Amino acid sequence: MGRGAALGPRLLRAAVLLALCPTAAGGCFCRWLGIAAAGGPEKAGCASPPLSRRQQELCKQKPELVPAIREGARLGLQECRSQFRHERWDCRPPNIPVLCFVGTKETAFISAVTSAGLVHSVTRSCSAGNVTECSCDTNLRHGGSASEGWHWGGCSDDIHYGMSFSRKFLDMPIKNVTGRSGLVAMNLHNNEAGSTTVWSLLMSVDCRCHGVSGSCAVKTCWKTMSSFEKVGRFLKDKYENSIQISDRLKKKLRRKEKSQRKIPIGKEDLLYVNKSPNYCVEDQKLGIPGTQGRECNRTSEGSDGCNLLCCGRGYNTHVVRHVERCECKFVWCCYVRCRRCETMTDVHTCK
Ligand SMILES: *[C@@H]1O[C@H](CO)[C@@H](O)[C@H](O)[C@H]1NC(C)=O
Ligand SMILES: *[C@@H]1O[C@H](CO)[C@@H](O)[C@H](O)[C@H]1NC(C)=O
Ligand SMILES: *[C@@H]1O[C@H](CO)[C@@H](O)[C@H](O)[C@H]1NC(C)=O
Repeated sequence: MGRGAALGPRLLRAAVLLALCPTAAGGCFCRWLGIAAAGGPEKAGCASPPLSRRQQELCKQKPELVPAIREGARLGLQECRSQFRHERWDCRPPNIPVLCFVGTKETAFISAVTSAGLVHSVTRSCSAGNVTECSCDTNLRHGGSASEGWHWGGCSDDIHYGMSFSRKFLDMPIKNVTGRSGLVAMNLHNNEAGSTTVWSLLMSVDCRCHGVSGSCAVKTCWKTMSSFEKVGRFLKDKYENSIQISDRLKKKLRRKEKSQRKIPIGKEDLLYVNKSPNYCVEDQKLGIPGTQGRECNRTSEGSDGCNLLCCGRGYNTHVVRHVERCECKFVWCCYVRCRRCETMTDVHTCK
């Protein structure tokens, strides 16, 4: 399958678009992720080039959210790397924003996981009292069930503010997709899918016991967001079942596969427009590092196995020596004496 055939003309357009990056153009939505890499003082945050003009405006209005925006990008990208660490495409830079223009399943995942990251980190900021407009979910302050011995208390995460901020920040209010390209519609949908996922996985409840010597006669409970890893796993599953949509929009999003058009597209489904390249060889223009030099597992049948990961090119083996402390004994009194042990392990890397 020729990658050039599928992506060539789009790539050219992508390069032009990335240079200009008009608001809400397909792919620009990823540019803000550059903020995860931008170090330096917080003040520099708002003016930093990865943000669109609209995002810079929002950022100036709410400078207290800059750390949360940065943290959201970092959280999303870190989870992406963790979910894909055994695959040919392992979500590492060099160039995530370029990859975002090509409208593949991987674009869909980045888009969803980073918008989920933004919702998550802004909500955490609210609960920590770092943002003036939001705090804990006060609707849950009172109530509970006296007969069952618990009541709401503490700080329940209030996700509403995080959701609405991330919609604004990621240019999501544009609901009317008529006349937009499939790529833009796809990005909007996938951003929304990410934040909806945080929303639907929000409902875990934590409790703390009170009462004489831990008797747990009374409990205080609060709602808390699920761990971000759970969000990541859920989205990875959606990635594996993602849906190809038609690049030509009629009134709304349509599946590419004509025989399946009757099956509705769910809010949390991830969508893509273009088939993925195989990610085997480096392609700087597309921001693909290739799998050369990646560590693989000689005995695994899965995606981390040398056969699949190295795309049939074979692998090199080198011996790595580990030295560690071992056979430690406690010597009275008071120290620990150990021996130095050496182990040799074979490490395989793709050719
Ligand atoms: C809240 O603000 C403090 C001080 O700026 C910071 O150290 C902390 O990490 C923030 N917490 C969250 C969850 O954003
Ligand atoms: C969507 O936008 C198109 C063109 O901009 C317009 O003709 C149409 O009425 C809009 N639809 C809705 C539901 O707003
Ligand atoms: C390699 O794969 C095998 C089979 O899946 C697994 O048991 C083993 O722990 C893996 N080794 C490493 C170093 O991950």
